[in-house]
Amino acid sequence: MRDKINIAIDGYSSCGKSTLAKNLARELKYVYVDSGAMYRAVTLYCLRNGIIDEYNSLNVSGLLEALNEINVSFNYNRTSGRSDTYLNGERVEDDIREMRVSESVSAVSKVEEVRNVLVQFQQQLGKNKGVVMDGRDIGTVVFPDAKLKIFMTADIDIRAQRRYEELLSKGQSISIEAVKENLISRDRQDTSRKYNPLVKADDAIVLDNSFLTKQQQLEQVKAWVHDRLHKTE
Ligand code: DC
Repeated sequence: MRDKINIAIDGYSSCGKSTLAKNLARELKYVYVDSGAMYRAVTLYCLRNGIIDEYNSLNVSGLLEALNEINVSFNYNRTSGRSDTYLNGERVEDDIREMRVSESVSAVSKVEEVRNVLVQFQQQLGKNKGVVMDGRDIGTVVFPDAKLKIFMTADIDIRAQRRYEELLSKGQSISIEAVKENLISRDRQDTSRKYNPLVKADDAIVLDNSFLTKQQQLEQVKAWVHDRLHKTE
């Protein structure tokens, strides 16, 4: 049996990174890790504990003081067949997807100390290989030696439409304009922050999935995996 590899999937917000990563992990029998869920869980803690106030302003020193008290973990959910995100022992899988978290998560993920803690945790999860991880800095910082790196992008209106439909299906009422604004704002903050900004790794392959079905994306990436596994021989 061939050695397992780590697969890094980075890209802009709502490009379908997690859908592709989950499908790929299922096919390869790899572990899927959603690194964005970790930043979202820390953000939820801040919102619940007044570290982010009602004007969406983040108290950075409050966050640094609380950092030791924030424990993020994943637990396998037998019913859904996926890992759920836990914050200090509580399942927060749905709460972390709410719009108020999306609005503040880029501010939290700018903080160097937060990134250091979460990057360490992510590297730990990948140390035995066989991980598909999606995020913003996976191919550049978390797994700079990953054998396969993918940088995903898609047309902004198509991304906004996809996210809008996803939120509607979860019963959240929001306009498509607000969704689009949030995506543009997060992309701007994620690409321009000082620590570990979203940037394409030199050796990443670009995947624009604007006009690709989920199955087409999966087939394309499986071909790349096959190619990489042969290279590692
Ligand atoms: O993947 P997502 O949209 O759930 O991620 C939410 C936010 O978390 C994203 O806007 C930026 C931040 N993030 C990050 O800074 N680094 C990562 N590796 C993953 C996410």
